[in-house]
Amino acid sequence: MTRSAKRFSQGWRRGVGAAVGLSLLLAMPWDAASFPIDGDQTVLPAGSELNEDAVYVPHEILRSEYRGDRISYMVALGDLAFNSPSILGDVARRAGMSCGTCHVGGANNAKLFIPGLSSHPGTFDTTGALFNPKADNHVLDPVRIPSLRGARVLAPYGHDGRIASLRDFVRNVIVGEFAGPEPSPALLDAVTAYVQEIDFLPNPRLGARGRLNDTATEAERRGELLFAKPFPHDPTLSCAGCHRPAGAFVDHLQHDIGSGGLYKTPTLLNANFNAPYFHDGRYESYDQVVDHFDRVYALGLSEQDRGDLVTYLRAIGDARQPYDSDGVVFRFKDIETFSLLLTQAIAAHDRAAIDLAVDTLGGELRDLAEQFPDHRDAAVTGALVERRMARAAAKDVVISLRRIAMATTADDFDAAAAEYKTFYALIFTKAMPLMRGTEPWSLFNPAVRTARDVQRRGLLRLPEPAQVQR
Ligand code: HEC
Ligand code: HEC
Repeated sequence: MTRSAKRFSQGWRRGVGAAVGLSLLLAMPWDAASFPIDGDQTVLPAGSELNEDAVYVPHEILRSEYRGDRISYMVALGDLAFNSPSILGDVARRAGMSCGTCHVGGANNAKLFIPGLSSHPGTFDTTGALFNPKADNHVLDPVRIPSLRGARVLAPYGHDGRIASLRDFVRNVIVGEFAGPEPSPALLDAVTAYVQEIDFLPNPRLGARGRLNDTATEAERRGELLFAKPFPHDPTLSCAGCHRPAGAFVDHLQHDIGSGGLYKTPTLLNANFNAPYFHDGRYESYDQVVDHFDRVYALGLSEQDRGDLVTYLRAIGDARQPYDSDGVVFRFKDIETFSLLLTQAIAAHDRAAIDLAVDTLGGELRDLAEQFPDHRDAAVTGALVERRMARAAAKDVVISLRRIAMATTADDFDAAAAEYKTFYALIFTKAMPLMRGTEPWSLFNPAVRTARDVQRRGLLRLPEPAQVQR
C-alpha cells in the first residue's frame, strides 16, 4: 500500500472547537463556521501561523511500505495518536494541535510560527509557558522543528542529544512539554513504533554507503571530495568525519561547531527540505551553512569550492517526490488507514483505540466538510447543491461514528461492528465520491481558496498574512 499521509488531526486546519470531543462537536451547530484564521484565537496568541492551508504537504513513507507489508495495528494506532490533539495537554487540545501539526507528514513544519514561542518560522520554544507553565524556563530559546524522517537511526534525541531513547523522548514531549496525561505503555509504544517507521524519502542520486552514484555531475564529484577532505588547520576533522555518508550522515555525537553550544550532528539526508538549518534555525540556505564552516574553521574555500560543496549538499539532500498536493484523495488515504484500525479495534474490543479512532476520524471529517463552504460563503460559487450534499454526507458519517462510540461505551461490540458497516458505506460509497466530484468548487482548489481568503480579509479588515506573521 502506498500511503502518503497528511498530518491533519482534528482541527489541525481550522482550530476553533476542533479538538472538542465528539459529543460537543455534535452539540454545536454543524455549520458554526470556524474563523478563517489558523489556530484557535482564544488559545494561541494572535498572529499564530500553523500553515494549515498549505497546498503541498510533505510526502511520507513508512518502512513497512518498503517491505510491501501492511501497516501493523500498533503502527496505525501510533499514527492515529500522532495526529490526535487528545493525547497532548489541555492547551494543545483546545488549539487543535497534535504531533502532526509540527511534524507534518513526519517531516517538519517550516512555516509554523507562534508569537512568543517562535523566533522565526519553523522554530518553537519547547520550554515556554503556553502549553505547560511548569516547563517554562523563562527564556525565549526556540529550536528548529526537526524532521522525524529516519529518526530511528538518529539517536540521541533533541538538538542537544540529551535523551538517548526515542520512547523516553516521546513521553517527555507528551507529559513534559505539553502537560498531557501520562500515556499508557501501549500508547507510548504505539507512538514510538510509528515514529520509528517514518523513513527517509528515497534519493535516486545516492548509491551504496551514501556515495553519489553515476548520475553525479563534475561539480558534485568535486564537492564529494571536498566533503571528505581533512580541514587544513585541524586534519582530524572533515565534513564526512561528523556527517558519515555510510551512516545516514551522522555520528550520533554532540559537537561545538561554533553555533553556541553542544549540538548533535544532524542528518543531511532529505535535508533540502529541512530548512531553516542549525538548532535554532538561524540559516536559510546551504550557502550560509557552508559560509559558517568556512569562517569558523578557516577552511579558505574558493568561490568554486563553496559552489561545489553546496551542489553536493543539494544532491545528497534530495528526494524523489518530496511533496503531495492536498485534496480529497490525499485525505482519504489516512481515513482508510484509520478506518481499518477502527474495525480491528472493534474486533479486539480495544476501547482506547476505538475512542481515539472515532475522535480523530470525526475531526478529519469535520475538517473535510469545511472545505466545501455553504451558501454563506459568497466568495465560493458553483456546485452549491453538491457542496451541501458533501457536507451533509460528512455529517452522516460523523453521526455514524458517534453511534459506534456509544455502542462501545455500552459494551455492545456487536452493535459497534454492525454500525461500522454503515459507517463504511457512508464514507466510502457516499461521502468520498461526492467530495471528489465537487472538489473543483471546494477550498482544495487554490483559486477558490484565494478568492475566499481575499474576501474574508476584506470583511474582517485583517492585515495580509505576511504582516501578521512576524
Ligand atoms: C509545537 C510543535 C511540536 C509539537 C506539537 C511536537 N513537536 Fe516534536 N519537536 C518539536 C521541536 C521544536 C523539537 C526539537 C526539540 C529539542 O531539540 O529539544 C522536536 C523534537 C522531536 C523529536 C526529536 C527528533 C530528533 O531527531 O532529535 C521527536 C522524536 C519528536 N519531536 C516527536 C514528537 C511527538 C511524538 C510529538 C507528539 C507527541 C511531538 N513531537 C510534538 C516540535 C514539536
Ligand atoms: C565537528 C563535527 C562537524 C563537522 C566537521 C561538520 N559538521 Fe555539519 N554540523 C555539525 C553539527 C553539530 C551541526 C548542527 C549545529 C547546530 O545545530 O547548531 C551541523 C550542521 C550542518 C548542516 C545543517 C543541517 C541542518 O539540518 O541543520 C549542514 C548542511 C552541514 N552541517 C554541513 C556540513 C559541511 C558541508 C561540513 C564541512 C564543511 C560540515 N557540516 C562539517 C557537525 C559537524
